[in-house]
Amino acid sequence: MRHQFSKISVIGLGYIGLPTAATIASRGIEVVGVDVNDRAVSLINQGHVHFIEPDLDMLVRAAVTTGRLRALAKPEPAEAFIVAVPTPLTADKRPDLSYIDAAVRSIAPVLEAGNLVVLESTSPVGTTAQLAKSLAELRPDLSFPHEAGERSDIRIAYCPERILPGRMVLELVENDRIIGGLTATCAARANELYKTFVKGSCFLTDASSAELVKLTENAYRDVNIAFANELSMICDRLGVDVWRVIELSNRHPRVNILQPGPGVGGHCIAVDPWFIVDSVPEVARLIRTARDVNDGKPHQVVAKIRRHAERFKDPVIACLGLSYKANVDDLRESPAVDIVGQIVSERIGKVLAVEPHIESLPPALAGQDGLEFMDVRAALEKADIAVLLVDHNAFRSVEAAQLLNKIVIDTRGFWRDRLAVVERPN
Ligand SMILES: NC(=O)c1ccc[n+]([C@@H]2O[C@H](COP(=O)([O-])OP(=O)(O)OC[C@H]3O[C@@H](n4cnc5c(N)ncnc54)[C@H](O)[C@@H]3O)[C@@H](O)[C@H]2O)c1
Repeated sequence: MRHQFSKISVIGLGYIGLPTAATIASRGIEVVGVDVNDRAVSLINQGHVHFIEPDLDMLVRAAVTTGRLRALAKPEPAEAFIVAVPTPLTADKRPDLSYIDAAVRSIAPVLEAGNLVVLESTSPVGTTAQLAKSLAELRPDLSFPHEAGERSDIRIAYCPERILPGRMVLELVENDRIIGGLTATCAARANELYKTFVKGSCFLTDASSAELVKLTENAYRDVNIAFANELSMICDRLGVDVWRVIELSNRHPRVNILQPGPGVGGHCIAVDPWFIVDSVPEVARLIRTARDVNDGKPHQVVAKIRRHAERFKDPVIACLGLSYKANVDDLRESPAVDIVGQIVSERIGKVLAVEPHIESLPPALAGQDGLEFMDVRAALEKADIAVLLVDHNAFRSVEAAQLLNKIVIDTRGFWRDRLAVVERPN
């Protein structure tokens, strides 16, 4: 018989954990959110959100006001624990699982027979099984699925998250989910948990497959973007318009090439493929090469800017956009930040950085000589070279007249219509 949950704990209240906690609370279930960040805990308990995400503030406020969501610094007993802590890369591109280890140590003392533990953090294959082993070492009084199989006291599963920043509240409910159990009973129990708030379909599998599904999705995207980025470099060398080549190639019924850009950023696509490479470096050759191609693209953009800057005595370079993708304020792993940083450190010219979604330069760029932060109009007035790095809607209003007599390097093909009428010095 289906057993409903009355109390669920979410460990890690960031971009993934907080919307998950608030959504579950909105279904009438008591939710205890846990975070090591005191500021986040305090803000959430006042009904506020510590990052920008549409509609999330309303959801959190309602959950806190009705008393269904509480934030704490340490876990307390619950029927299910959802772990959504960071899984970044180390400096040598290996998965850093220390946050999962810490989360495991914090929930071990409060675990009780019958509990479910679900890992949501993007993780290398085998992490969920390792989580079970770590918990078993910390709680020898309980039995775990990797040893006791279907009869285990604790159920353990992996359920990756696929929500898109900017649409999280909607996609958390609408998206299909992949649920991988360490046993079939673990998967079935986790399915009951997700069915309390997911309207999309839930597909049940084993934990390793579910872990690899998440990594595969992002590696697939990365490889396809790398193809487009490599093609853009080929076209550059051959003096051919890459946007036109892609447009015409995509008229083939079975070809669908993505759009190139200045590189790949963010905390998922630029990170997750490395988890596969780290596990099986000898066979993940294409995935590794795609990472290298995408990581190399910012250098190619800088080389192009350097080449054009050489014709000016004191070049002024407007760099439009700093975030890792359009219409967000998220600068994590952003190739645009990387490009601006390189131009400044190589002293290629004076840089005028524009980013309409933030108030001031990020710490990685702030306070550097030869770099100023300003709005798009002022930057284009002063610039000899205009570099479009992010296809923000805000840059749509740039007119052909503002680009006249400038070198324009459009890394996104965003101003193609404008460039057709601009007379550009080459
Ligand atoms: N953000 C996304 O769009 C996205 C999408 C899919 C998957 N993911 C994955 O989800 C996981 C979480 O990502 P995120 O974007 O929510 O990260 P985040 O940095 O926004 O949030 C993580 C939170 O966990 C907290 N934390 C760290 N250690 C903790 C501990 N031991 N106990 C309790 N709290 C702890 C941090 O203080 C932080 O608030 C990562 O593995 C990420 O790769 C993220």
